Amino acid sequence: PAPGWSIDADVVVVGSGVAGLTAALRCAAHGLDTVVVTKARLDDGSTRWAQGGIAAALGEGDTPAQHLDDTLVAGAGLCDEEAVRILVTEGPDAVRRLIATGAHFDTDDAGSIALTREGGHHRRRIAHAGGDATGAEISRALVAAVRAGGLRTIENALVLDLLTDAEGRTAGVTLHVMGEGQHDGVGAVRAPVVVLATGGMGQVFSATTNPPVSTGDGVALALRAGAEVSDLEFVQFHPTVLFLGPDAEGQQPLVSEAVRGEGAHLVDADGVRFMVGQHELAELAPRDIVAKGITRRMQEQGAEHMFLDARHFGAEMWEHRFPTILAACRAHGIDPVTEPIPVAPAAHYASGGVRTDSHGRTTVPGLYACGEVACTGVHGANRLASNSLLEGLVYAERIVADIAREQAAGRLHARVPRPAPRAGQPEHPLLAPETRFAIQRIMTEGAGVLRSAGSLATAADRLEQLYAEARGALADDGKTAEPGVDTWEATNLLCVARVLVAAARLREETRGCHWREDRPERDDAHWSRHIVVRLTADRT
Ligand code: SIN
Repeated sequence: PAPGWSIDADVVVVGSGVAGLTAALRCAAHGLDTVVVTKARLDDGSTRWAQGGIAAALGEGDTPAQHLDDTLVAGAGLCDEEAVRILVTEGPDAVRRLIATGAHFDTDDAGSIALTREGGHHRRRIAHAGGDATGAEISRALVAAVRAGGLRTIENALVLDLLTDAEGRTAGVTLHVMGEGQHDGVGAVRAPVVVLATGGMGQVFSATTNPPVSTGDGVALALRAGAEVSDLEFVQFHPTVLFLGPDAEGQQPLVSEAVRGEGAHLVDADGVRFMVGQHELAELAPRDIVAKGITRRMQEQGAEHMFLDARHFGAEMWEHRFPTILAACRAHGIDPVTEPIPVAPAAHYASGGVRTDSHGRTTVPGLYACGEVACTGVHGANRLASNSLLEGLVYAERIVADIAREQAAGRLHARVPRPAPRAGQPEHPLLAPETRFAIQRIMTEGAGVLRSAGSLATAADRLEQLYAEARGALADDGKTAEPGVDTWEATNLLCVARVLVAAARLREETRGCHWREDRPERDDAHWSRHIVVRLTADRT
């Protein structure tokens, strides 16, 4: 659809989690005319659900070099070491600037930032807020700063496509906005710089810790715009998600790794601590190893879940240190003070995304990406716990520094967009909203925590069938689903699911969070490399 309204800006930031709002605030501080657009409300993304915290070498005796080592080990040979060095070196000051922006972190008796441990970290280096409500506090502080700064924001605005000029440079985005006064319906923000900070794609699976808005919109937009996307096969499954039954769908309650960091044990139904002996860090091994340990034990015992036992914390510690998790468990009839918590892995984080350099620049001039939507190279084959809020902070600031350099050099000019939003055109038919559930089931069955050539081939066939049906209906009868948020989300989910499965089929090895039952070994000789995808002319 052609835009019915348009506004102009220097920078449009798409998304309002830690990455997007940090980028927007810092852009505004540089005097750049900035607009934030976000799919739901400003605080509806993944950031506010983050529990454990934000990792940084802030503790006595800890160093960026040790944080670097732990990150590289978790990344299983595929991290970009320079990108990680930037993350861990610039991280501590970025956290201090976040505090200066208004976020309150928990402190110890001496008034220093309290630090906990999570999987893969050899030190206590995870700062947290409100016990286990770190993301909520970060989101609160950033939203308050954005409102206090009077930044222009458009909520309920689903981004559709990138606008480009005749030279292929970024010229803005098209949006589908619902019920926001003068900006209602399909419109455009014209700007020479677009910062994608749309978060992840957990909703591509049936059960996920991600909120309903995490539908891969940014990656789908980038693919349609011809940008490079990398590492999509590396989907991280969080080991300990509250088990609510085999058919539970949608967002599931997380039980933070910090619970294990404070001494909780993973046990099977007989009370056996099955992670002991599997890794030197036992329950605090990197996340993929714990997710695999749980899944294996479940298979061996024909069980639907394992248990996390933290009864020894006692009521007072549960109430003060983990109030969010305690409330979520009790809301589902489980009391962690008196009984072990049933847990199973669920989709949690996209380690891959839109490929960027160390300044957050994608392969399309003027298009930047940061946060979960991006693939900066810091996560490799498996993200280290609590590095994601940090990545959002550090790389958002680097992006803004790059935009400020462009501005100072006089290179930020309004571009004349070509009149061509692409989603919904023949090669990208719109999907009916209910297709979302079919995609989720296909992905969970075929491309979940355990994959094989056979399961992935079946998933690929079934996804192609969905695509062919939608494309056929459009080509033969001119029929396509009615445009709307649910329709675009289903369309974007299919787009990213097809690429994810294609990458997972190609990578014939097991590495990090990509677990192929038919190729159980890591294959450094052939696979110490990345799978980079760019859609070409016919964009199918
Ligand atoms: C958690 O609290 O376990 C999640 C931390 C993360 O995903 O980084």
